[in-house]
Amino acid sequence: MTDHYAVVGNPVGHSLSPAIHAAFAQATGEDLTYGTLEAPIDGFAQAADRFLATGKGLNVTVPFKLDAWRWVDRHDPHAAASGAVNTIIPAADGWLGCNTDGLGLVADLTEHLRWQVAGARTLILGAGGAVQGVVGALSEAGAEGVMVANRTVAKAQALADRFGVQACSLDEVGDGWDLIVNGTSAGLAGTGGLIAGDAVVGGRCYDMFYSRDGATPFCTWAKAQGARAVADGLGMLVEQAAQAFYLWRGVRPDTAPILASIRGGVPS
Ligand code: ATR
Repeated sequence: MTDHYAVVGNPVGHSLSPAIHAAFAQATGEDLTYGTLEAPIDGFAQAADRFLATGKGLNVTVPFKLDAWRWVDRHDPHAAASGAVNTIIPAADGWLGCNTDGLGLVADLTEHLRWQVAGARTLILGAGGAVQGVVGALSEAGAEGVMVANRTVAKAQALADRFGVQACSLDEVGDGWDLIVNGTSAGLAGTGGLIAGDAVVGGRCYDMFYSRDGATPFCTWAKAQGARAVADGLGMLVEQAAQAFYLWRGVRPDTAPILASIRGGVPS
């Protein structure tokens, strides 16, 4: 019997997740459908109730990761630590909320890009939902001296306290970083220069966002400042999806060919 999955968000129409999961299903021979589900901003619970009456699982994207955290019956350790859920899977005693974003980021960094995370002095920009999901995984992967820098320093501090890392404002960011991860939504609006350019010189810069129209503003800016390497978040998107697919189906798809084929349509 065909199992049904979806990604719920608002907006969600341009999500690449259906194409990624369709490619995974084809590559692994799994019998499933995967669609998009746009819920009203205040309507996550009703949408999840309705879909999961018959559906076998959901991915959750902006702005519902916190609603999903509240909606599920239990949390896996990654979701519990981050306070955000991006994958809902069936469990014997209800719905289990998981978070595959952090593992997705680390897998892209270490497996596709071959950027070392263990021992890398790591700066993370932003303190919103996107960053919340990845600080724990970066620390677990051995990132060193992790610093969360945010426009609103109190938010950075709260997040840093939760994960036992450091916090500062964007203005206070110094230099000497091996890895700089952008998780602010500012990059999407086109402002590349959030911090002093010296901070990225010689470092590897990763933008958790991706652009369908070429390099992201953050990547373009970082490269111009003298970053050693830059990458956008498309690989993270594919890797977090692969982890979700594995949680649902017990099969791990080979991500490299799928990333390459999507990358073909999304220049970076
Ligand atoms: P998400 O869930 O995508 O992370 P969010 O919770 O709204 O979205 O967080 C957005 C992040 O981008 C925050 O860290 C925000 O900084 P503030 O906490 O100070 O609001 C950051 N951000 C958004 N626009 C920004 C800008 N123009 N300059 C600097 N930081 C910005």
